[in-house]
Amino acid sequence: MTQIPDITLNNGVTIPQLGFGTFQVAEDDTQRIVESAIETGYRHIDTAAGYYNEAGVGAAVRASGLAREDVFVTTKLRNGNQGYEEALAAFEASRAALDIDYVDLYLIHWPVPSKGLYIETWRAFEKLLADGAVRAIGVSNFLPEHLEKLLAETDVVPAVNQIEVHPTFQQSELVRVSREAGIAVEAYSPLGRGADLESDEVTTIAQAHGVTPAQVVLRWHLQQDTIVIPKSNNPERIAANLDVFGFELSTDEIAQIDALEAGNRTGADPATADFTQMR
Ligand SMILES: NC(=O)c1ccc[n+]([C@@H]2O[C@H](COP(=O)([O-])OP(=O)(O)OC[C@H]3O[C@@H](n4cnc5c(N)ncnc54)[C@H](OP(=O)(O)O)[C@@H]3O)[C@@H](O)[C@H]2O)c1
Repeated sequence: MTQIPDITLNNGVTIPQLGFGTFQVAEDDTQRIVESAIETGYRHIDTAAGYYNEAGVGAAVRASGLAREDVFVTTKLRNGNQGYEEALAAFEASRAALDIDYVDLYLIHWPVPSKGLYIETWRAFEKLLADGAVRAIGVSNFLPEHLEKLLAETDVVPAVNQIEVHPTFQQSELVRVSREAGIAVEAYSPLGRGADLESDEVTTIAQAHGVTPAQVVLRWHLQQDTIVIPKSNNPERIAANLDVFGFELSTDEIAQIDALEAGNRTGADPATADFTQMR
């Protein structure tokens, strides 16, 4: 079985560098698809209250027969549940849906600056960490100004910032600022939701290594110490996305992919996104 490298977070907890994303995996399909991902070798699953599939993720983890500590589970607080008491209650709802004793990584899904609640939400996260309900706490979609405020006004430095990163949308400055603060970078939509797999450069590099464009893009992330969580519903692609540890990109190939930056954001802009539900 594939050996997935671990990344050590700033509180000493380790996270498998490559995990399995579940955004837009339908509720009814989730247990089957996540079970097959775990069977393929994934040991890190990324879900969210807003994906409405936590129950399927938890059921798959239990059905896998693996010890609980052998699967790393991330979930996220829905935007509409920000606030101290609301976040604590929402965490309990997520823990009940997952039906697992503890969550490995709990993230604030979006900063929602227009609501101004992420500082008090983070204090609830600090309590969950102190209580042992979660092993690590982090943020998602936080821009430099949100990180700066959080670091200035609270005690625990986030373990992770989960942000959109892929060859045509690299957010280099945000990656730099996060890492400088000791926050690991986790790339969501690592394949650009499929859109970054068509480029001539990526295709040529893939042919040279006898691999697929998606494998090249995942390798590009991994070689920069980024945590990645590709999503697929397709068994062949689920397996291929994990089979990325048998080849290495050269410095020149990495530079060619770096040059694909095009400001191509595929998701919402965290500076303005204020939706209260994530569906
Ligand atoms: N924190 C946040 O705000 C946030 C936002 C977005 C996503 N996320 C997380 O990040 C995970 C991944 O992001 P994502 O789902 O947006 O995008 P992604 O992983 O970049 O791309 C998924 C898309 O690419 C296709 N695909 C997957 N593997 C492929 C391969 N080997 N070759 C060709 N196509 C392939 C999938 O189709 P098939 O399923 O048909 O294979 C799907 O359409 C999510 O599932 C979620 O867990 C977090």
